Amino acid sequence: MSKQNIYDNEVFFEEFQKIRDNKINFNDCMETPILLSMLPDPQGKEILDIGCGMGQHAKQYSDMGAASVLGIDISEKMLGYAREHNSAENITYQRMAMEDIDCIGRQFDLITSSLVFDYVEDLDALLKKIYLLLRENAHLVFSMSHPMATAWDGTYARYTRSESGERLYANISNYFVEGCRKIKWVLDGYELYHRTFSSLLRSIIKSGFLIEECQESQISDEMRMRYPAMFGGTIHRPDFVFFRCKKTV
Ligand SMILES: C[S@@+](CC[C@H](N)C(=O)[O-])C[C@H]1O[C@@H](n2cnc3c(N)ncnc32)[C@H](O)[C@@H]1O
Repeated sequence: MSKQNIYDNEVFFEEFQKIRDNKINFNDCMETPILLSMLPDPQGKEILDIGCGMGQHAKQYSDMGAASVLGIDISEKMLGYAREHNSAENITYQRMAMEDIDCIGRQFDLITSSLVFDYVEDLDALLKKIYLLLRENAHLVFSMSHPMATAWDGTYARYTRSESGERLYANISNYFVEGCRKIKWVLDGYELYHRTFSSLLRSIIKSGFLIEECQESQISDEMRMRYPAMFGGTIHRPDFVFFRCKKTV
């Protein structure tokens, strides 16, 4: 199974850091508010954050009263940033691929993951491992790229635009062709896995989870008007999908 670690590429990491350092970005303006709105109260909970990246979410959970947060990530550079900028006494950062979480050997009250499951080839296997790491009645809350956003292969423009540059349509292709897509995002050869919405639902249900909530990302009209270059396309299709899943037995 391939485990891409593009975030440790110097150029990719620097560009990603610039995106995150700019306060107007998809993570802070769109992903985080929706994910936090779906989160059970972190107070007193032992939390695992899969693909913690630069640690922003781990620090939020710690500040919200989590008993402990374990953030795991495959990228040493992302973890280095997290340790430097988003540390707290109750946060531990550990280098580990999400595919290997069965080695953790303890259970959690809440498992979260933000925009990381795009990179896993075998989502069924990952969700089964997550299920085993959760205590009874505990939750998995995660976001990932929306299937309508990943149904694009990079050989044509993401949007059809008017002469003045306004995004008229979102372009997609081969929605039903699942699997690895290599596109240009910061660098050529950026790999992610496209799966249909029904496939995604099947994987979650097959793992034994009860789906309690699902959201598709939207942003306010005000933000879209204010930052059209960044969010102008969000009217046409969702960028991210979010699930809150419960382990019922
Ligand atoms: C888009 S970033 C999201 C980071 C963080 N969750 C956030 O919301 O800011 C994706 C993260 O997933 C990590 N990642 C990619 N593949 C991984 C894997 N196989 N196992 C663990 N982490 C992985 C990357 O290193 C990166 O930190």
